[in-house]
Amino acid sequence: MTHPVTPTLDDLAAVGAAPAVIEAAPRKRRDGAHRVAQRLDAIAYGGDYNPEQWPEAVWHDDVRLMRAAGVNLVTVGVFAWANLQPSPGAWDFGWLDRVLDLLAEHGVAVDLATATASPPPWLARRHPETLPVTAEGTTLWPGGRQHFCPSSAAFREAATTVAHAVADRYADHPALALWHVGNEYGCHVNVCWCDRCAAAFRHWLAQRYGDLDALNAAWGTDFWSQRYHAWEEILPPRTVPAIPNPSQQLDYRRFASDALLACYLAEREILDAVSPAVPVTTNAHPHLEAQDWWRWAPHVDVVSYDSYPDPADPEAHRAAGVSADLMRGLAGEAPWLLLEQAPSAVNWRACNMMKPPGTMRRWSLQAVARGADAVMFFQWRASKAGAEKFHSAMVGHAGTEGSRTWDEVAALGAQLPSLAEVAGSQVAADVAIVCDWSSWWALEQPSHPTALRWGDQLAWLRRPLDDAGLTSRFVAPGHALDVVALLVVPNLYLCDEATARWLTDFVTAGGVLVVGFFSGVVDATDHVHLGGYPAPLRTVLGVRVPEVDPLPEGVTVAVRGPGEHRGHATMWREPIELAGAEPLVTHEDGWLRGRPAATRCRHGEGVAYYLGARLDAATTATLLAEAASEAGCVPPLDAPAQVEVVRRRDDHGRSWLFALNHSEEPVTLTVPTDCRALLGDAPTGGTLHLPAGEVAVLREGSGEGDEDHAGGDTAATKG
Ligand code: GLA
Ligand code: ZN
Repeated sequence: MTHPVTPTLDDLAAVGAAPAVIEAAPRKRRDGAHRVAQRLDAIAYGGDYNPEQWPEAVWHDDVRLMRAAGVNLVTVGVFAWANLQPSPGAWDFGWLDRVLDLLAEHGVAVDLATATASPPPWLARRHPETLPVTAEGTTLWPGGRQHFCPSSAAFREAATTVAHAVADRYADHPALALWHVGNEYGCHVNVCWCDRCAAAFRHWLAQRYGDLDALNAAWGTDFWSQRYHAWEEILPPRTVPAIPNPSQQLDYRRFASDALLACYLAEREILDAVSPAVPVTTNAHPHLEAQDWWRWAPHVDVVSYDSYPDPADPEAHRAAGVSADLMRGLAGEAPWLLLEQAPSAVNWRACNMMKPPGTMRRWSLQAVARGADAVMFFQWRASKAGAEKFHSAMVGHAGTEGSRTWDEVAALGAQLPSLAEVAGSQVAADVAIVCDWSSWWALEQPSHPTALRWGDQLAWLRRPLDDAGLTSRFVAPGHALDVVALLVVPNLYLCDEATARWLTDFVTAGGVLVVGFFSGVVDATDHVHLGGYPAPLRTVLGVRVPEVDPLPEGVTVAVRGPGEHRGHATMWREPIELAGAEPLVTHEDGWLRGRPAATRCRHGEGVAYYLGARLDAATTATLLAEAASEAGCVPPLDAPAQVEVVRRRDDHGRSWLFALNHSEEPVTLTVPTDCRALLGDAPTGGTLHLPAGEVAVLREGSGEGDEDHAGGDTAATKG
């Protein structure tokens, strides 16, 4: 039997696969954060609350302590499926009724989970095909969590059944403020390789390519005898003897992200039908590469994120800043929710350091500075049993007495209300960084000139922007760039013609563009653009790169420029031919001596920089400083590199400065004289003293109170 060219949904149902094609409409309103903030009249504060792990007497202690800590929102029911539905036909909602009533009585709102994050043991027993399978063919069994295959019809049915039951029962509960679908989709299992996924993949491919000829062309199957003559021959790119087909791999990543998204959408549809007024979220997790979040984001009312920087890393706040900006970008620059962070240590690193005093507060306020309207934790009360018993919690094993973590949690809870006026405002950022998941995935495939990591390329170009105090936002290819002055492309290995046009148009219209090496190399199917790299960007960058010459680890080559600056490059170099650009940095070593390593090209009204080598930090910073000054970007304040300053502002002309001292030294900053402190010491005569590790939040302008929307003319970051 041959598979139909386009399998119907019935065909898929026959093989037990659920469709994984994204048909649901994007959200029309992305105002979930606004609706939550309005409901709470504050920045949200709280955490994951798992009362099913505790006797009922403890719940009363919980709500009393929640009030003491200033908690106004808790996430409930994330892992409660097995307790809510002991068997397919039986329900036990009594305990959750009592928990929600208790929370409502004590003025604590609820982010209520659909309870589908971890299927109950009975589901795997009855439907072993709901279990996910690895690329090697190993089944992932129950006993942990997230053991579901996104393409399993039985899982889909069971998950939508429990989601429906929860929605029906609690849609009108007074505690309900937000729906929480699943939990960290793809955190543990972001790709499943089972037969059901194989069938769903074929369906997805048929939608994408229409027929086998187009698919064969897209995957370049004339290479290594891979041409497909029937749809059934197509498999997920499971473990293979040699390097797997990169175009097939790339499509499987795209499919896998969509397959999980389809699970989310199936639940969202139910919530929309049952309780359309309550906003819906699903929390993104720190494995940001796992899914194409640009495809997910339009389907949530509010973007939410779980942030777990490592306290052992003295620079951890930088990566946290990146994720915060990315979340805000996903939210279309609307506020997002920090839905989880550890009050102190986690349990899942090899060594789990506590957060030193003040760190939790500073990192919480960093999220708020960068657009979060919620500061939430995992979890409220530390578990007594189970895999996470040594994860810190707002209330630890020892209770509150003598607990530094509790004291810090309660202190922050007491301070956040003074920032209520900030909720709903936006973050000022006129530097944009391009992020694209297809390109990220394609870049990191094996069998390239050298192993490049997108996150590492991002850190290379982001660090100097941070150090210069410039706040960035993230954009996807094709996004509107009207408020963007400087556009940074750390790496865009995969760049189709439309994206190249978008970048080119930005420069033509007067923008300043900075592009890192090995960009513009392949099209959307991972086929090389011929004629010299970076083919579709050659005109705007004014360069042509006939070949590349990566450097082994430990090898450093000297460069000179801009001007007399002396620097070096590691990891990557290439023989750039000038085709309209001027050289800014030149190689001093080896066969590339005298050839450009970085260039600048005027194009239309704007200019485009190209960095054709992995330049050292100082050289890169000099180039980016030049680009930023050409773009007219200025930081909100002059501050040392270890002091993070971010401005939030609203539509009424009000603005706030957040200054976070990540260093171990006190600093003195010059601030506008008409600032008023909402948090931290008041500045005197335009001077702000910021002790080591401290944070200040200042309202700018002459505003006296929350009602005063006049503000000063302080909102612009551009000079
Ligand atoms: C994730 C999960 C939580 C918990 C924490 C622990 O963020 O969503 O359920 O496991 O990690 O750090
Ligand atoms: Zn599967």
